[in-house]
Amino acid sequence: MARDRRRFDQDAIEYHYDLSNEFYQLFLDPLMLYTCAYYRTADGSLEQAQQDKLDLVCRKLRLQPGERLLDIGCGWGSLAVWAAKHYGVEVLGVTLSSEQAGYAQEWIAREGLSEVCRVDHRDYREVSSETPFDKISAIGIIEHVGAANYPAYFSEVHDLLNPGGLFLNHGITCHRRWKRNPQWDFLVENVFPNGDLTHVSYVTERMEEQNFEVLDVENLRGHYSRTCFHWAERLRANEQAAIGLVGQRTYRVWLLYLASSSVNFADGSINLYQVLASRPDPMARAMPTTREDIYVRDRAAPLARALG
Ligand SMILES: C[S@@+](CC[C@H](N)C(=O)[O-])C[C@H]1O[C@@H](n2cnc3c(N)ncnc32)[C@H](O)[C@@H]1O
Repeated sequence: MARDRRRFDQDAIEYHYDLSNEFYQLFLDPLMLYTCAYYRTADGSLEQAQQDKLDLVCRKLRLQPGERLLDIGCGWGSLAVWAAKHYGVEVLGVTLSSEQAGYAQEWIAREGLSEVCRVDHRDYREVSSETPFDKISAIGIIEHVGAANYPAYFSEVHDLLNPGGLFLNHGITCHRRWKRNPQWDFLVENVFPNGDLTHVSYVTERMEEQNFEVLDVENLRGHYSRTCFHWAERLRANEQAAIGLVGQRTYRVWLLYLASSSVNFADGSINLYQVLASRPDPMARAMPTTREDIYVRDRAAPLARALG
């Protein structure tokens, strides 16, 4: 049964993500992030907002030089490279897409980060908990996990995290009264074969059941509406190149999916939450009692502090 689900997930991820890196490059930002950006100004660009999202994630996790970070569902390696380069952490990223893993490995080598940063083509369920991590990020994977598998998913993440460690789960949710509809069936059939959404309270309850303490929950719905709008605009501007790579049908399906997602985030039927949680440990160093440290603008501060 567990094996069948892994095969199903592998096939679903290949279907969606192995369309070709060149296709995704036509509409993503240069850092190849395929999740909600963080717009600090109303007219901010996608490029800047994705960099700011990476910093937001690293700061919420309070990354410190020398710590070990696991990035579950690491995509093309953007957060792994960013965190190793700017926050001085050691990173392991895992993705089920071989196209993404190959791209990330080349990028890491080009940056000269191979000693501290690695991306594997691997299921997160195959990461060993023998040497747990200080911090774990999961940015845009819960949509692929399936609600029935949340207890097993959060339990695995809990085992992979050191006591006192922090976990950031960033994912799409649906409104409490949301029901499956023909639009969603179209998306599951054509875009996300293993897609599944639940509302945020369902997510946090399952986290608590697996002994996480929920520390901070932030709604980024408006940011995701704008991100999808930018992706749709960029894809449409590259129509001919896209059709050349994936054909007319896939181009049109992806354009429809990106544009309709922007509308659905805008109308509130779907949402995006970042949930920061800890694996409680009374002996662990106390967390800051406010959010103020997250918004200090000097990115080099934690690295410089630790280097003395
Ligand atoms: C929406 S993408 C997000 C990528 C990246 N985190 C980002 O922000 O751009 C989802 C990622 O989850 C990965 N993924 C889905 N199921 C997985 C699994 N069971 N094990 C490892 N990675 C998985 C996919 O391969 C993909 O890289």
